[in-house]
Amino acid sequence: MLFLSIKNMKHPSKSFCKIGVYLLSMLFLQQHLKAQDTIAKPVKYSAFHPGALWYDNNGVVINAHGGGILYQHKTYYWFGEHKIAGGAGNRAMVGVHCYSSKDLYNWKDEGIALKVSDDPKNDIAKGSIIERPKVIYNKKFKKYVMWFHLELLGLGYKAARTGLAISDKAAGPYKFIKSYRPNAGKMPFYPEGTPDAEKVNCDSPANKSETFFCRDLPGGQMARDMNVFVDDDGKAYHIFSAEENFTLDIAELSDDYTSHTGKFVRVYAGHQTEAPALFKHNGIYYMIGSGTTGWAPNPARWFSAKSIWGPWTYHGNPCVGEGAQITFSGQSTYVLPVAGKKDAFIFMADKWNPKNAIDGRYIWLPIIFKGDDIEIKWMDSWDLSFFTDKNSK
Ligand code: GAL
Repeated sequence: MLFLSIKNMKHPSKSFCKIGVYLLSMLFLQQHLKAQDTIAKPVKYSAFHPGALWYDNNGVVINAHGGGILYQHKTYYWFGEHKIAGGAGNRAMVGVHCYSSKDLYNWKDEGIALKVSDDPKNDIAKGSIIERPKVIYNKKFKKYVMWFHLELLGLGYKAARTGLAISDKAAGPYKFIKSYRPNAGKMPFYPEGTPDAEKVNCDSPANKSETFFCRDLPGGQMARDMNVFVDDDGKAYHIFSAEENFTLDIAELSDDYTSHTGKFVRVYAGHQTEAPALFKHNGIYYMIGSGTTGWAPNPARWFSAKSIWGPWTYHGNPCVGEGAQITFSGQSTYVLPVAGKKDAFIFMADKWNPKNAIDGRYIWLPIIFKGDDIEIKWMDSWDLSFFTDKNSK
């Protein structure tokens, strides 16, 4: 359009105006693109830089929020929410993005593993909310199983469902199977020795949390912020915020990982824990979570237990140093065991940016074990040699 000859113009002033509008829109587009995709020359990384822009193999900023990692075939697969620019990016406009890596620093774009549907009646319709997707591999059935938090189109956060998608290949494509509220009609499981007074009695719920539990008993418990965890014996568990986010449930999945068995425990009941991330170290189960302040950061909290069924002990905030009171501006999403390294676990958190969702950042920090306790400290940058060297530090 810019190459139009002025001689041929019927109304030069109108045409100049058109050119002006064109130039302005190109400028806008360029700036918009910058904000959205932030394309740069591909970088070769050899360290983590928590909170900084992190580019993939194409020089595009990694777009996998509320993510989790699957380790398979000596490859790490990072799955997360693909966000777009602006506030609309808080809803699922594209789907679940997948990246792969051999070294955890450099990530290859594997594309969209689970696509939203164009049919507004579909559970995973474009504009619904798909959060915190996590993938586990079922060795027995040779299937990749993705669980995620799903909110149906147009209902805000009311639906509080869990969604399931399956694939034969790690990076997908995943096929959406179903969404529902888990454990309908099932009462919680209690570790031996739990006093009756601590058990939910739906004839007289003792507090708000139990009231929500009993309200949801017939149709299944609410399932929002979530994670999945596979134990050494191959059993898998779904951990989710239930009861209007008042209580966390840890629920057993079936042998094929595609349904709930009905066995579950309520953890830290009534204390509003979100963003659960569970891992196991030296036979102890650990869980890191957050409080419930929406996109705004709050102090993290950690728990430990000798059995997945509890009792779970609350230990307060694992973060230390400046920024610890707001989890260094992040919220937990996953704890990643580093393959082949002893005592090496990475705390993964999201630094949300709800006004421009695509610009949410990733905060990865090493977990430091002090006996059976854990600690997380801020580091501007670090690499995996931290785990090898830490004993000599
Ligand atoms: C956070 C939660 C996020 C998202 C957000 C919505 O607390 O961890 O996954 O649901 O609230 O406000």
